[in-house]
Amino acid sequence: MHLTRQAIAERVKAVDVVIEMLDARLPGSSANPMLADLTQAKPKLKLLGKQDLADPLQTEAWLAHYQAQDQTHAIALDAKHQAPVKTLLDACRRLAPTRGESLTKPMRVLICGIPNVGKSTLINRMVGKTAAKAADEAGVTKQEMRYALTDAFYLYDTPGVLWPRIIVAQTGFNLAASGAIGRNAFDDIEVALVLLDYLKTHYPQALQARYKLDHLEALMALEDEALLTHIGKGRGGLLSGGRVDMQKAAEAAIHDFRSGTLGRISLETPAEFAQWLAVGEELDAERTVRKEAFAQAKAEQKKSGQKKRW
Ligand code: G4P
Repeated sequence: MHLTRQAIAERVKAVDVVIEMLDARLPGSSANPMLADLTQAKPKLKLLGKQDLADPLQTEAWLAHYQAQDQTHAIALDAKHQAPVKTLLDACRRLAPTRGESLTKPMRVLICGIPNVGKSTLINRMVGKTAAKAADEAGVTKQEMRYALTDAFYLYDTPGVLWPRIIVAQTGFNLAASGAIGRNAFDDIEVALVLLDYLKTHYPQALQARYKLDHLEALMALEDEALLTHIGKGRGGLLSGGRVDMQKAAEAAIHDFRSGTLGRISLETPAEFAQWLAVGEELDAERTVRKEAFAQAKAEQKKSGQKKRW
């Protein structure tokens, strides 16, 4: 984590554009806050990957949200995109118009992104071989790599890392639902319940159709846990005594989301994310004040204890 931060800080100085690859289903949650600090002064391309899985309307909203930001351009694509090198170069040229046309002024680009966002798959397509190993395991890219995409277009790839402390609660759940966080770090049932809760509000028809509920009212009448139980029963995941295997049910619901079986779904809108972030930052500030007060009280206690002994 620290090494990656250092590597990015070093590389940023010598690039023309920083590409941040985001998951189009959760752009806000998949943005590494560390990167915002490190790349402040550079032109930025927000690349919304896996757009084939995201809700097109929300992707449009996120693109408009990023386009409104200073020195920022945004595009959405997926692994099946026809000409990714040209698309990326064109997008980067909008941000650094004097670069990328000649060998003496090549376009130098740094690409960053959290694990599992689809970075290796995209790079593999662009370099035309399996140089950046794509795998179903989070965080396979370990070192910085340099690729010459054309004679005058260089791409520097950095390891996909997550940041150490996630302050927005919903971000943790959304990252887990997307597959960015390793399985041991979260509880499938909790993630599935939060996911179903969001889908019930935003994509009820998708849930009704997939889990064969007679009508929307039947879906709305179910609490999240009852819905998960219903999903478990449908999948035949029963334990001894006829109890529903909630773990299997949760895995099934998460898989249906990840694979796109539920349809094209986004887990956050720009406005929702801004609201979650504001709450997260407020709670985090309160936590910091409490921590500091505790440390101060402890220091004073230690001091008065020493005086007494004296
Ligand atoms: P990373 O380097 O950012 O860590 O991600 P990577 O390319 O390894 O991709 C992670 C998973 O996401 C892979 O699936 C990959 O196939 C899938 N993926 C990448 N880009 C896209 C995309 O544009 N659309 C969709 N739908 N999926 C994408 P996997 O199940 O982990 O492995 P596999 O499918 O390659 O077997």
